[in-house]
Amino acid sequence: MRTILAAVDQSRHAHDVMSRAAELAVLLRNDLVVLSVVSSDPMKQFSIVEEQNRFASFHRELIFKHFPENSLAVEPHGGNGGVYRYGTAGVRVQSRILSGNVVDKICDCAEEVNADIVLVGSRGLGNIGSLVLGSVSERVVHKSARSVLVVKGERLDGEDWQGLSSAQKSGASRV
Ligand SMILES: Nc1ncnc2c1ncn2[C@@H]1O[C@H](COP(=O)(O)OP(=O)(O)O)[C@@H](O)[C@H]1O
Ligand SMILES: [Mg+2]
Repeated sequence: MRTILAAVDQSRHAHDVMSRAAELAVLLRNDLVVLSVVSSDPMKQFSIVEEQNRFASFHRELIFKHFPENSLAVEPHGGNGGVYRYGTAGVRVQSRILSGNVVDKICDCAEEVNADIVLVGSRGLGNIGSLVLGSVSERVVHKSARSVLVVKGERLDGEDWQGLSSAQKSGASRV
């Protein structure tokens, strides 16, 4: 069975990543691992467990939102998060919450689950609007030996798409 790894933070971009990951998992009948990493920043140590719990419920929300609700049955799972099964298509959805260096853990997890593709959002919780890529997504693209898909979410439709067609039109008029 092939595996898709979807790395999500708690930003709205997580929904773009999850939406694309669910679509691919069902279409390709792949397993899906949803991963979040609680940063090991020593300043944050005291709230690691709280943060893990927040991620666990966020994963649950994401998974139930992006897969048809009545087709998921929750299975007990030893560590943090849970293992969910999707319908009769046999897609297994697993939630993982790790702590440590965010980029390292995403790359390590991709190796561990032998991910065929790693999905990350183009941006996350960070607020530097001028950057095209967030630093986590950029570093995962550089560091991971796996294929990485940077999900751009809502930029796919709307203005950017119209911009693309007008660029094509002007390109065509030059020929
Ligand atoms: N703690 C995390 N755990 C898992 N994935 C993460 C985490 N932080 C960021 N990512 C992934 O990287 C993407 C881009 O986030 P990031 O590079 O942090 O951008 P920003 O600088 O805008 O926060 C996110 O959409 C998510 O896919
Ligand atoms: Mg971030």
